[in-house]
Amino acid sequence: MARKMMIAGNWKMNGLLADGVALAQEIKVDVKAKKRNCEFVVCPPFTLLGAVKKALKGCRVALGAQDCHFEEKGAHTGDISPEMLLDCGCTYVILGHSERRADHGETSELVCKKAKAAYKAGLKTIICIGETLAQREKGETIDICSKQILESVPNDATAADTVIAYEPVWAIGTGKTPTAQDVEDVHAAVRKVLAKKLGRAQANKMRILYGGSVKPSNAKELLSLPDVDGGLIGGASLKAADFMAIADNAGC
Ligand code: 13P
Repeated sequence: MARKMMIAGNWKMNGLLADGVALAQEIKVDVKAKKRNCEFVVCPPFTLLGAVKKALKGCRVALGAQDCHFEEKGAHTGDISPEMLLDCGCTYVILGHSERRADHGETSELVCKKAKAAYKAGLKTIICIGETLAQREKGETIDICSKQILESVPNDATAADTVIAYEPVWAIGTGKTPTAQDVEDVHAAVRKVLAKKLGRAQANKMRILYGGSVKPSNAKELLSLPDVDGGLIGGASLKAADFMAIADNAGC
């Protein structure tokens, strides 16, 4: 089953206007110069979405946000709705990132609610899952990831509107990564759970990204595995040269 590789950059809470626009422009120059056959997504902070959209005009790099509320509008101070994200040019929204689960107490039930709202508005989702170090050490990785998939992914999700990102919490920003075998084992297990939940056809088409300390030097090993369909890149997505080197090494 051919799945189009995706290289997505999660800029997290980084970048002022000038940095964000410069980074987007560098990515655009590279993507236009090379005939790359991957799907590229950049997910800047909310404040940069409009400017980055403008900077990316004319190239095939999609814009994503890092979170959304589940309501369309209303009295939710500080929140952003899926409709607002669509309105400023987003195609994707990352949901359930472990930093939101940890910093804002987001549960899988809430992630599922947000995903349904995102689909309703016409956005695609990148739904994140992953175990903590304590859970890994107790041998619970597959159970935790399976539970997060079952609870976070809406029952009507399809491969056309949903991408999964497996990000072991202990690998995020630490320089540590699971072995390639561990990554493949989790991705294969996740695909099995997706098949149970959504049917085999959707599961076989759905992309499952790996995220957590991906850099140019480990991209080939981690992103070329059979059930790995690309990467969700944090720190290394803030430098265009590293982000594009990851794409190169992943065969994009
Ligand atoms: P790092 O690539 O910085 O480890 O972050 C991964 C991540 O959390 C992407 O969403």
